[in-house]
Amino acid sequence: MRFKFLIILFLFLFITNFAYSHNHYPITRNSVSDILEGKVLYNQNCASCHKANLAGATDWKGLDKDGHRKAPPLNGTGHTWHHDDKTLHAIIKYGLAKLVNNYEGKMIGFGDKLSDKEIDSVLAYIKSFWSKENYEYQLKLN
Ligand code: HEC
Repeated sequence: MRFKFLIILFLFLFITNFAYSHNHYPITRNSVSDILEGKVLYNQNCASCHKANLAGATDWKGLDKDGHRKAPPLNGTGHTWHHDDKTLHAIIKYGLAKLVNNYEGKMIGFGDKLSDKEIDSVLAYIKSFWSKENYEYQLKLN
């Protein structure tokens, strides 16, 4: 009886631990392999809009011809580093349009293409472009 209880307890702990093992914030730029993985994924999924150098669309503060926002820079010259990791992760996973009511954004979410871990790697890659000051400021938001 007692043994069964222990097994159930163990399974329960294992499952809950597993479910929460994603999304270890803050996301750092300490792991070279994460950054390299993020770079490949970024170039495949994000560079078409945010550009290979992360500088964003030309004149990104203006609107495109359909009246939508253009892709902002992610390299630390925009305001990406003012958001905490949870927010950044959610923007990438769900797209901004799903998060903000009555807002039509062009950036669709990547939740069905990238796993949580892959999104974190892309963020590690993005953070590798930020100045030390921006990076350290943003780490403290988490
Ligand atoms: C079709 C073009 C497009 C693609 C592809 C795209 N984005 Fe975006 N992204 C945008 C636009 C436009 C915005 C501005 C918000 C909006 O209008 O939805 C944005 C906003 C963002 C923001 C918020 C930036 C800020 O400063 O607030 C982040 C972070 C971001 N994108 C990351 C990514 C990542 C990572 C990928 C690839 C996995 C990606 N984007 C792919 C167009 C794109």
